[in-house]
Amino acid sequence: MSLHDGILNLNQNFQVVLDGNHSHRSGSYFQAPIMYLWAKQTKAKTILEIGIGAGSTAYWLGHAAKEMDGKYYGLELLQSRVNALTNYMNQMSIPNKIQCMDSRKLTHDFLYDFLDKKSLDIAFLDGNHTQEAIEHEMECVYPLVRARGYIFIHDIHTSSKDGWLSVTKKYFWDIGS
Ligand SMILES: C[S@@+](CC[C@H](N)C(=O)[O-])C[C@H]1O[C@@H](n2cnc3c(N)ncnc32)[C@H](O)[C@@H]1O
Repeated sequence: MSLHDGILNLNQNFQVVLDGNHSHRSGSYFQAPIMYLWAKQTKAKTILEIGIGAGSTAYWLGHAAKEMDGKYYGLELLQSRVNALTNYMNQMSIPNKIQCMDSRKLTHDFLYDFLDKKSLDIAFLDGNHTQEAIEHEMECVYPLVRARGYIFIHDIHTSSKDGWLSVTKKYFWDIGS
């Protein structure tokens, strides 16, 4: 597949995966393939996304997981998005487990079982961007990330800023000191 084909597929993905009218100028247009490359470079097999939206990052993270013989895990507030993405991933033979859930009600024990008791290689927090929600998600997710695994948090320069600053101080206190 050429790079051009890949971009065409990406555009098609934006159009057909979920709501059918997602903007091609979304930030995900750039971040999603970068996350794919990151996942491939780090050989990530177990990938969790909280907040799947129109499915653009899910598309790339899902394909990365498949290519690494891993699995894509997703948690999302809206059942319609869960259904659409599950259908898509099944069609693409991407190993997946996607469930409707309000991440503010997430627990560590639920997540451990949901992840088939595996450690996370990559977690992408992109659901509710309030400080409270991000702090809560981190409490559940952080202990399940393997050593030298990665946690991505979206929109740290805008809506997730307070949450990101808070969890950065708590979990990564040596950054920037
Ligand atoms: C910005 S979109 C995600 C975009 C996607 N990660 C991407 O980059 O392509 C945010 C998603 O989070 C979901 N969401 C919002 N609050 C949530 C919560 N408390 N728990 C789970 N999902 C939530 C929304 O329904 C929406 O689908």
